[in-house]
Amino acid sequence: MARPGSLLLMTDTAHANTELAARLTIDVVDGGGASGTMAEDVLAGLTAERKQLPPKYFYDDAGSRLFEQITELPEYYPTRAERELLEETADGLMAGLRPVEIVELGAGSSAKTRRLLSAPTAHEHLRRFVPMDVSREIVESSALGLLRDYPYLSVHGVIGDFERHLGRIPQALGRRLVLFLGGTIGNLHPPERTAFLTGVRGLLGPGDRVLIGLDLVKDVPTMEAAYNDAAGVTAAFNRNMLWAINRELGANFDPDAFAHRAFFNAEESRIEMHLVPSVAQEVSAPDIPLHVTIRPTETIWTESSYKFTVASIEEMLTGAGLRLEHCYTNEHPDRRFALALAAPA
Ligand SMILES: C[S@@+](CC[C@H](N)C(=O)[O-])C[C@H]1O[C@@H](n2cnc3c(N)ncnc32)[C@H](O)[C@@H]1O
Repeated sequence: MARPGSLLLMTDTAHANTELAARLTIDVVDGGGASGTMAEDVLAGLTAERKQLPPKYFYDDAGSRLFEQITELPEYYPTRAERELLEETADGLMAGLRPVEIVELGAGSSAKTRRLLSAPTAHEHLRRFVPMDVSREIVESSALGLLRDYPYLSVHGVIGDFERHLGRIPQALGRRLVLFLGGTIGNLHPPERTAFLTGVRGLLGPGDRVLIGLDLVKDVPTMEAAYNDAAGVTAAFNRNMLWAINRELGANFDPDAFAHRAFFNAEESRIEMHLVPSVAQEVSAPDIPLHVTIRPTETIWTESSYKFTVASIEEMLTGAGLRLEHCYTNEHPDRRFALALAAPA
């Protein structure tokens, strides 16, 4: 028989859950963002002369968890650097802009975003948080945590692809701050970046702003170490894409037969991540249908992480109809990172 105390607890929990659910909306676009195009992307990428796969396929549930581990690694300076910048700027930004909603693209766990939600003025003006990500699990779990910790906030999550589904971001409730943190902008090649930022420009009204986290060019050993950690977490993250493709498309990759390789390509100002087979791999996925041989002399290029300068940031924004209003930089030589605040031009 339940004791009165535990009955009370259960009633309280049910009430709390109902209250949280009333503040939560989750929209799932196209069956969950990236999945709709995976077959086409994998077929095109692995039959191309230079084999490649888009980085969005890293982020199944296991991949999202591995990325969270990467953010804590001693070698991975970008998360710490961006957190430091947010620590310095969050209160002033929130008090100055007074956004009614924050839209976060590629939100992941939104761990750093909490610094903005915790700004002293936030509860006075902020009403809604709109995280968009391809990974459903991470959006749902972070939404529940945020609803619990910020009682003034509603959360409208969108599970979708920020390169294809920006039109599914709900109508603005009022002044909007769009966030694109974590250096994710660096995963897009220049033409894709311009298309994406032009789409972001379309989400902004006259008083709205976008805040973008970008990694800055620094000494090569520091940049390369961040993608070659001693614990091998980035290598596991890289190989996880092959496990995800096996599961989703019935492919027969042997992920452990692929080595992780990451290096700085100075000409293109980017870190490149590749998977390299130790011996020739026959890969097939009958449903696509795919059948390719991947030799040790070639690689599968899985990610680029472009590194910027303040000048290249300004040029990129201008090309998308945005005006750089302020570039907050962290001048520590090993942690140089930028938060670019931009307005519609
Ligand atoms: C580098 S992580 C950054 C996560 C978080 N913003 C941070 O700063 O720690 C990239 C995030 O973007 C998401 N993502 C990658 N490509 C995406 C796409 N095309 N559409 C939506 N989300 C995407 C991933 O699932 C992941 O959560």
